[in-house]
Amino acid sequence: MKKHITNLRQSFGIAFFVLASYCSPVSAQQIISVKTKSNALVLQVTPGKELNTIYLGEKLANDFDYVKIQGQFKQGTDYSGIYNAAYTPSGSKNLLEPAIAVTHADGNTSLDLLYVDHKTTTVSTGVSQTEITLKDNVYPIEVHLFIQSYYDTDIIEQWTTIKHAEKGNITLNKYASANLYLKGYNNFYLNQYHGDWAKEMQPEESKLTHGIKVLDTKLGSRANLFQPSVFMVSLDKPATEDDGKVLFAGLEWSGNFRTDLELDPLNNLRVISGINNAAAAYSLAKNTVFTTPKFWYTLSSKGKGHASRNLHDWSRNYKILDGKGSRLTLLNNWEATYFNFDEDKLKVLIADSKKLGVDMFLLDDGWFGNNFPRNNDDAALGDWDVNKKKLPNGIGTLVKTAKDNQVKFGIWIEPEMVNPASDLYKKHPEWIVKQPGRTEHYFRNQLVLDLSNPKVQDFVYGVVDNLFTENPELAYIKWDCNAVIYNAYSSNLKDKQNNFYTDYVTGLYKVLERIRVKYPTVPMMLCSGGGGRVDYAAMKYFTEFWPSDNTDPLERVYMQWEYSYFYPALTIAAHVTDWGKQPIKYRTDVAMMGRLGFDIVVKDLNEKDLTFAQQAIKNYNALSNTIWQGDQYRLQNPWGNDAASVMFVNKSGNEAVVFSYSVNSRYEVGTHLPIKLKGLQAGQNYKVEEINVYPDKKPVVETATYSGDFLMQVGINPNVNSTNTSVVLKITKA
Ligand code: DGJ
Repeated sequence: MKKHITNLRQSFGIAFFVLASYCSPVSAQQIISVKTKSNALVLQVTPGKELNTIYLGEKLANDFDYVKIQGQFKQGTDYSGIYNAAYTPSGSKNLLEPAIAVTHADGNTSLDLLYVDHKTTTVSTGVSQTEITLKDNVYPIEVHLFIQSYYDTDIIEQWTTIKHAEKGNITLNKYASANLYLKGYNNFYLNQYHGDWAKEMQPEESKLTHGIKVLDTKLGSRANLFQPSVFMVSLDKPATEDDGKVLFAGLEWSGNFRTDLELDPLNNLRVISGINNAAAAYSLAKNTVFTTPKFWYTLSSKGKGHASRNLHDWSRNYKILDGKGSRLTLLNNWEATYFNFDEDKLKVLIADSKKLGVDMFLLDDGWFGNNFPRNNDDAALGDWDVNKKKLPNGIGTLVKTAKDNQVKFGIWIEPEMVNPASDLYKKHPEWIVKQPGRTEHYFRNQLVLDLSNPKVQDFVYGVVDNLFTENPELAYIKWDCNAVIYNAYSSNLKDKQNNFYTDYVTGLYKVLERIRVKYPTVPMMLCSGGGGRVDYAAMKYFTEFWPSDNTDPLERVYMQWEYSYFYPALTIAAHVTDWGKQPIKYRTDVAMMGRLGFDIVVKDLNEKDLTFAQQAIKNYNALSNTIWQGDQYRLQNPWGNDAASVMFVNKSGNEAVVFSYSVNSRYEVGTHLPIKLKGLQAGQNYKVEEINVYPDKKPVVETATYSGDFLMQVGINPNVNSTNTSVVLKITKA
């Protein structure tokens, strides 16, 4: 037995053992433990075959210690014995929020889930999967819990499959992806995000009190507009960048989600997350497997920075399309022209892209619709034929002009939508999400197409496929989504309307899957007229996302700071626009923290601004690998400081870049103290030089060599103040 335990301790992944002889008040209990480099999730099968969570936290040195944990808690009585269920059923003895609630084919609403067996497999190097089978002993219903651990990055993903063999359909009234249980902490502090158009990702921290705090969305599409599914929970005390225990988590689902954070009567935290069950009790046919989306989470004992660097590594490796690749810099015409353009105007802008030095020109909204031309946002969505008046020679001539100018060409679409002023609206009213007999409600003058309908899926796929078929050299797609779902009703789903919100999202994924089979690598931006609409299920198909229509660089410092906890820089599209009053240097320096783009009228730039922008793009190209693939350190928080500072260090540690921005314009504000750098090697010397210096200006930081020790212990002053509002430092191993 001892040898067996030792072997388990040495193996990194998942262990299962029966603790018979290890002196514990709980004898002969089955333990299932899932481990990552630093953490362990430990489940226990009770003698009555219930599956409970007994530990989620930093790994203990000895496996046999986990069963001793329970005995140390004197928190009171669990009246059901399943407050800590690994997947809480309802309708039998459960007293708290369930993870799953069903109505059986005969109308009965009870469910017990008992452990049957489990198996562990290796998915790939460092990735293991445990599948646990649970069954009800009265009804033929089977639930499989999947727990996938990514050892090196301390990430765990959980999801569930549900299947039954009852005589008719059953109804899933709730069907969460995961049900976590955190105990052993005095307090829990939730850091959540709220927002609206142009105000996305506003953080809010509060101490969780007893009862349930729900994070959710019911918008159908545009999941993140009011609230994204990502959140943090600090354990014991609010975590800081480098200190404290914190859980980061989010649901991989691009539609309605719901996360319940329940501080239970015993002061422990239950976290139940999944598809939102509001108006979505799912009707499940016999022998059909329902698979929930994945819920990802990571625990850090070294603060938020460590959690986010783990998350970035994990997402670049496993989640983001071309996460290890590069990105294209671009010039977008949206704010330069809005809908008001023609072929000649665009050809000038394409030439401007070359002049600026970016990789690509991106043609935005307004290029389609003839019977209902897209000259405003009130017509033409759905009619994806090139507008002959604006572009008599089609898209092809623009692609060719781009090629002649040695830049690539990308295009905007919003294929999930329809304007009432369109041919499509007249031709296929049955493809549109709307309640029969009720007044239509519009969001940005448009309605949503019913992606639960396979015919609509074909249509949306066709929009993209046709574009590529007609323009094989098309290099990029900006996929927009500017409406929420009102009046949810699908004529395709008939009497299964409650399946709509879920089937809408799976329909979207089916389309994206088909697109990626045929066009596996072409970069695509996940856009949503602001609102974010980003999650790690969507990022399987997209290379980047549009965090907000708000491109005021001061706002972006805060917003990109918050997004960066969850998404690496190469996914965060950041464009230099005319929003805000800041000089082009500040605007560009901020956009360089993400995937750099421009949305300005190049010909309106004065000579120095143009020279600055051209040089900044060259600097960005030289540093982009460090920004996209390096480790990100948040050095100084914009909230509560005069200046923000963010650093990226490449994986080999020989190059870094530090961005510092003033975020306050009051008298004498600035970086009065040096900023301590992170992630360098103490014993190495580094050359520090200022880049992105505006033409004819002197650097505000003198080029010099410092030891890593100095830069990390004492720091360096970027000399940000009301005159030098942003400073970029390049750090190179000497
Ligand atoms: C909303 C996007 O966020 C903008 O960048 C632009 O593409 C417009 N839609 C076009 O309608």
